[in-house]
Parts: sequence; C-alpha cells; structure tokens
Amino acid sequence: MTVFVRPYRDRDLPGLLQLWGLVAEAPREPELLSVDDAVDLLDADGAVCVVADEDDDVVGVGLGVAAGAVAWVLRVIVAPGVAEGEISRRLLDELEARLAEMGARKLIALVVDEDMAAGLEAHGYVPARHSLCMQRIVPANLATPSALAELGGRMVDPGLWDSLKGLKDAKEIIERRVILPLAEPQLAARHAVSSPSAIVLFGPPGTGKTTFAKGVASRVEWPFVEIHPSQLVAEGAERQAELLAQTFDRIFDLPSAVVFVDEVEDLAAKRDEERRVNVSVTNEFLKQIPRFRDVPHHLLTCATNWISRLDPAFLRPGRFDYLLPVGPPDADARAAIWRRYVEEITEEDVDINALVGASEFFTPADIEFAARKAAQRAFEREHFAGAGRRALLEDFLEAISKTRPTLSAELVDAFKADTEQFARY
Ligand SMILES: Nc1ncnc2c1ncn2[C@@H]1O[C@H](COP(=O)(O)OP(=O)(O)OP(=O)(O)O)[C@@H](O)[C@H]1O
Ligand SMILES: [Mg+2]
Repeated sequence: MTVFVRPYRDRDLPGLLQLWGLVAEAPREPELLSVDDAVDLLDADGAVCVVADEDDDVVGVGLGVAAGAVAWVLRVIVAPGVAEGEISRRLLDELEARLAEMGARKLIALVVDEDMAAGLEAHGYVPARHSLCMQRIVPANLATPSALAELGGRMVDPGLWDSLKGLKDAKEIIERRVILPLAEPQLAARHAVSSPSAIVLFGPPGTGKTTFAKGVASRVEWPFVEIHPSQLVAEGAERQAELLAQTFDRIFDLPSAVVFVDEVEDLAAKRDEERRVNVSVTNEFLKQIPRFRDVPHHLLTCATNWISRLDPAFLRPGRFDYLLPVGPPDADARAAIWRRYVEEITEEDVDINALVGASEFFTPADIEFAARKAAQRAFEREHFAGAGRRALLEDFLEAISKTRPTLSAELVDAFKADTEQFARY
C-alpha cells in the first residue's frame, strides 16, 4: 500500500486522535505536548501539521509551529508496524519544507524519546547539550488578572487543603473524583471517566462548607469565584437574570474556576416563599448549570444548611454529580483543629483531650471562636495585672464554657437523617 504525506485536513482529526492514543502511553509525568495541546494548536497561527495517509488511514503525524525566523518541530509520530523510519523521515521533510516556506531559518525540536533523538540526528539536528525543556501551566490569575478581579475572584493559599482537618471522606472523594481525572486526563479518557462539573455540599452551619470549597480551589490551583445571586443589583427580575447570565459568560471565559454559590436554598428552595430571588433568576441559574459540563476546568460548588428544603428536581444527577455531607467534626477532627489554634495562641502545655471532651457539640467555627476568646482572656490578664503567662488550659476551658455550641443532639440527628436521604457520591 502506498503512503502519501500531505497537509492535515479537518476530517483527519479522529485518525490523529486514535494514532496519538496508540503511540502515547499514559504518561506518569505531565507531557510536554499532550494530545489536548496538539488539538488546540491545530487552529493556531503558524501551526503546521502534516499527515501520512495510507489508504485514507492516518498512519503518521508531524506537528510544528513557526514563529518568525524560528520554528519548532513539536512531534513526529508514526503508527507501529508501518515503515516507521521511512515515514518519519518523509513527515519531517514535509514539515521542515513548510516551516521554511513560512520564514523559518532555524528549527528547534522537542525530543520525547531516544528513537526521536536518533531520527533527528540522522536528519541533521545536533543536540544542544546544556539545554533542557521545562514547562509550566499558566495559572489562571496570570492569564486573566483583570477579568478575575472584576468577578471578585482570587487565588487561594495553596496550603488550605492540607490544613482542613477532619472531613476525611469528603476530601478523599474530591481527591479521587475531581483531582485524579484532572491530573491524569489521558488515563481518565481511556476509561471514559469524566471529572465532575457540579457538586453540592450540605451540613449544619460552621462545619466548613465554605472553607472546603476554597480548599478544593487551592488543591486544583484554580481561582475561587463566589457568586451571590440574591445580591444582583438591577431593576426588574428580567434584568437581574440577564446580569446573572453575563456573570456566567465571563466566568466561562476564564481558563478555569471553582465557582461557589453559598446558601443555594435562596435560589432553589422548593417552596416559593423560601426563595429570595425572582423565579426568572432561578430559571437562569438552572439553565447555566449544564454549561459546566461543556466547559472544561470549571467546577460549580453549591452549599446549603438546608438540603431538605431544596427542590428535588434541582438536585437530580443530571445537574449535580455529587451531594456531599459536611458534618460535625468528630473527636479526632476537633483535636486537630484545637491543636492548630492552641499552637498559635500559647506555648503553655494545654491538654488537648480535655478541650476535645469539653467541646462536643462545637463546629470548627465554634472552636475558632472559643480559642480566640481564650487568647483574649490571657491578653487582658496581662494588660490589667502586669506580666503573665500566655493562655492556659483554664483559659480555654473558661472560654469553652462561655461559648454556645452551634450543634445539638437534634441537629446532629437531623444531619444524619439528611445524609441517609440525600448524600450521593
Ligand atoms: N475542617 C476544618 N478544619 C479546620 N478549620 C475549619 C474546618 N472547617 C472549618 N474551619 C474553620 O471554621 C470556620 C467556619 O467554617 P466555614 O465558614 O467554612 O463553615 P460553613 O459550613 O461554610 O458555615 P456556614 O454554613 O455558616 O456558611 C472557618 O474559620 C474555618 O477556618
Ligand atoms: Mg459558609
């Protein structure tokens, strides 16, 4: 069978994807040029793609890009089994000729393996001994600082994810189902796994839903953008809905984002009187959710204290991939949270177990509040009574006794029942 080398045409795309999948093994490390990068590049100015065509089958691809006098040879791949050496030589010849035609006087090649290095050397390339290729994904805040700022978005401190204590199940689900598919897109594609596009976090107040959503943003290194549909300032419901749609358009223009909607019951409660926005705003919001499926690297995260008040239609699997409970911290989680604040506030020996035992119905927010109160107590003591010690166990216990816990046995039971009824992951 004869093989032609010719310019790439749109209808070669399935063949190109298949060939790439055949040749590229699932990478352990981030690839210099992933298949997604290659497909993006096909439409770019200066890009040159040639294919080896055997009876309408794509059996080889050469990809390069010219930029002024310098051009890059990015990839030459040939299907195993065809005359690999010869076909890659012909692809390279064609690619070089076209790049030269576009003004290139120097060709730089990305070398991905020994075979390619040998092929290039045989073609007249010389290794640039002390050069090394490095790569960096452009962070969203670098790419779109002004767009992000206008949306009130920001990057989150990368340490936040690790500092979240407890929440083990929810963290593991996010690790496996959100982070892994993003970190290994080709492996995920091989198993037809797509990463989730929308989740709901539910649980009592102060248990860490907002913090968790920010933690996800910190873990994936996407900007965090919060939208407040009930604060849309515009005259008339129609205009408010329009504004919401425009906000989403701008969010989808960002390269990536974790979009957070707090108190989503304001938007999607099943009873009309529990919603705080006009029905056209609710409808606009519902219309926007499926867009998260189509635009990669965007995750919608909604939070609510009242999942049972939400319209069941709103929660259906077509809209949200997972409904994750974020519950009261257990004793281990409380110990970890206490330890964090105690270490910050005092170097005195404070019995963490005593604090854990005294703070049974405390949320992380209550623990933070009581810890600040203990610090304030030690501060005032020193101010009024002269030199003193930093906060002691008794300061913490006193502060705990003066803090009203957010949770109660009833709330915990209600949360358990909600988890049975609604959790989905
Ligand atoms: N798992 C956690 N580990 C450590 N600190 C936490 C954790 N969860 C929450 N916190 C702290 O508790 C406080 C309250 O958390 P957050 O605002 O995220 O709760 P929430 O569930 O969103 O509350 P609400 O329902 O009132 O909006 C924050 O200051 C946060 O730093
Ligand atoms: Mg919150």
